[in-house]
Amino acid sequence: MDKKDSFIIEGLNGEKTLKGEISIGGAKNAILPLMASAVLFEDEVAFSNVPEIDDVERMSELLIDLGIKIETKSPKIKISANKIKSTELDYEISKRLRASVILTGPILARMGKISFPHPGGCVIGPRPIDVFLEGFKKMGAEISEKEKLYEIEALSGKLVGTKIFFKLQSVTATETFMMAGVLAKGKTVLENCAIEPEVTCLAEFLISCGAKIKGVGTTTLEIEGGELLKADGKVFENIPDRIEAGSFLILGALSADNLLIKDCKPSDLAIVIEILRDSGVPIETGKDFIQIKNNGKISNEKFKSFDLRTHEYPGFPTDLQAPMAVFLTQTTGEGIVFETIFEGRLNYAEDLKRMGADIAVWNPQKMLVKGPTSLRGKDLEGPDLRAGLAFIISATVAEGQSTIRNVHYIDRGYGQIEKRLKEIGLNIKRVQN
Ligand code: EPU
Repeated sequence: MDKKDSFIIEGLNGEKTLKGEISIGGAKNAILPLMASAVLFEDEVAFSNVPEIDDVERMSELLIDLGIKIETKSPKIKISANKIKSTELDYEISKRLRASVILTGPILARMGKISFPHPGGCVIGPRPIDVFLEGFKKMGAEISEKEKLYEIEALSGKLVGTKIFFKLQSVTATETFMMAGVLAKGKTVLENCAIEPEVTCLAEFLISCGAKIKGVGTTTLEIEGGELLKADGKVFENIPDRIEAGSFLILGALSADNLLIKDCKPSDLAIVIEILRDSGVPIETGKDFIQIKNNGKISNEKFKSFDLRTHEYPGFPTDLQAPMAVFLTQTTGEGIVFETIFEGRLNYAEDLKRMGADIAVWNPQKMLVKGPTSLRGKDLEGPDLRAGLAFIISATVAEGQSTIRNVHYIDRGYGQIEKRLKEIGLNIKRVQN
């Protein structure tokens, strides 16, 4: 998608006229590590339910640049890392994709060395990689920084299994070291691991192909290192994107009468559903759907405010913090939003204030939202992927027209979003500036 694309949205002025069905795509943050894990295999791996998003394209380009073969037939992807011809991650692509860092574990474990720049991605705080560097040192690697690149080399030619206690629960660090452990010499024990569904998805895939990983779903993982894995032709299904489902649920809570969110996994979103129900949103769930029912007759002011604190899974996901803050602008009462995971993820608040929201930002991680407030359409610039989605929600609720710039951030994580939103009745169009 073009960097200069914008969305123009006609707001519903608080009306709840959206309705119908919306289908959830495969999870961005699950498919990226799954794709990286192809490096651990001697044969081809195949995944289904792959979302059509820019981050998947970036990861594909990164792998192809290393000599890895990829065949895409949406929504399926086949990856063969039978031969890897380089251990240098492309500078430009890595700078654009934070998830490029996930490749460090499998490449280093298989090839004994890697070089890469500091990974980029959304601007949501400093996003250091110290946990990765410390972990690799513990596994017997040496790290040097040359010009703008990290160069890491396993001293004995192979990473060595060891015990690593993560000083913080990091999703991508847990995934990276789980993959490193699969090809390391001996046993790797990881403590204080992240337990997000995307981590579990990766572990389940690797185990289904013969990896010896114990403790899946807990904060301690034990991995017995071995030879390259074999997929033997099986196709692994990517999990549904819980953040996408949560975003549409929040949008529906504010702007839909009846909305069926299908092909999702409500159990991965338990806290979001709980909070919205407590606030007064009529939600029903089944094994693979979430439904908002007869919401049209409840005005948004009837919804109660609440305090929101982001937390590692199963707590409230940071990736839904901005959309939920928009919800709070429409509810009655006061709610404190406390972002505990990232330092720069309240940047969007100033734009919501320009739309008419009553928000006092206390510090880079805490703000007070008072509601209900009427929002007015404005010209908005999404500072990151999830804030971009929050602006789609605020623009939908608002009176009048909004323009959302920086749509390339939204395209990184949400496939064909305007098409799907149009289908449930939103007046949204993509324009090029
Ligand atoms: N951190 C460090 N040092 C490290 C690694 C992380 O200080 O070496 C800090 C981070 O700066 C942050 C905290 O640890 O303050 C936790 O971050 P984590 O490492 O868990 O985040 P991540 O793995 O970089 C993934 C998702 C993010 C999501 C977070 C939290 C992927 C590709 N990205 O990032 O997704 O917000 O976990 O759940 O899985 C998004 O999709 O928009 C997105 C940003």
